[in-house]
Amino acid sequence: MKVMDHPVFRRFWYPVMPLERLQAGPQRFELLGQGLALFMDAAGQPAALEDRCCHRSARLSLGSVREGILACAYHGWQYDRSGQCVLMPQLPGQPPGPQRRVKAFACEARYGYAWVALEDPLYGIPRIPEAENPAFRLVHEFYEVWNTAALRWMENELDMAHPSFVHLGTFGTPEHLTAHDAVIEEFHGGFHYRGRLGVAVAHHASKWEKRQDPNERRLDCTWYAPFAVRLGIHYPDGPAHIVVNIQVPLANDRSQMVQFCLVEDRGQGVDLDKILAFDRAVTLEDKRILEGTDPDVPLDMHTERHMPSDQPGIAMRRILKRIIESDTSARAAGAPPPSAPSG
Ligand code: FES
Ligand code: FE
Repeated sequence: MKVMDHPVFRRFWYPVMPLERLQAGPQRFELLGQGLALFMDAAGQPAALEDRCCHRSARLSLGSVREGILACAYHGWQYDRSGQCVLMPQLPGQPPGPQRRVKAFACEARYGYAWVALEDPLYGIPRIPEAENPAFRLVHEFYEVWNTAALRWMENELDMAHPSFVHLGTFGTPEHLTAHDAVIEEFHGGFHYRGRLGVAVAHHASKWEKRQDPNERRLDCTWYAPFAVRLGIHYPDGPAHIVVNIQVPLANDRSQMVQFCLVEDRGQGVDLDKILAFDRAVTLEDKRILEGTDPDVPLDMHTERHMPSDQPGIAMRRILKRIIESDTSARAAGAPPPSAPSG
């Protein structure tokens, strides 16, 4: 499965840009091959337009914003967040009219990012309970391009058989080859995954200290179709650590890796530098492997071989296959965009 082959991937919300970058002016982002010009409107809310002026095709992201209106850098035509051209400086008394407009996309602010859906979204923006809990602090970690398919990353996040090989430099231990008591509970648009994994670290804030002591992570995770995962990591001692990793698909073999975490503060304060260093080291261990994997991820059960600990990745493949098939048949029949398949 290659993301660019299936228009249904245009029907999800993705966090395309940190809001703070939009304070500096309009920004370009390419989501599934669609160039976007992102900017802040007059109400301080992010907006997303097709990054192509309807006059002579200049990139609107090269323009400037004043009072929430985006002005093209080439001849100064001005657009509002709906994509309507509201002023041509060369013809100040003439309304530009409905033909002078560009496509606008759904765009909302959440968790410090501008989220965009290119077509009618199947599901809402993933709800992260800890982001609404004052005992947790949201910390932005990574926003960078990885040369890997988004689904490979997702599978990796809930693959508990790789830490004892890939993450020996951080939390993995050869004594614990997979998770115990793993359970998957499906819901509309994703699933919960719970289990326990032996690790060689006391807790996140402790980084590599005490790694000779055996320890256990209790995992309470959620996968949201197609490419968002919330990793709830709980230790017997030490604060809970929630990692939210979202792979924004740019192309078949490239995705924008967006990661933030929610750190529980139990009143003793948390060492954010240690936490960031730890998560950085973990992600680089994964990157080395994932960037070498095949960007064409088969959704059938026959092309690649499996083992019991692959159940989360197998469930992702099964659910995505259902979503793709439902959308493909509706589009082939010329039906209006279908809602999300149930079950
Ligand atoms: Fe944008 Fe001319 S190309 S105003
Ligand atoms: Fe990993």
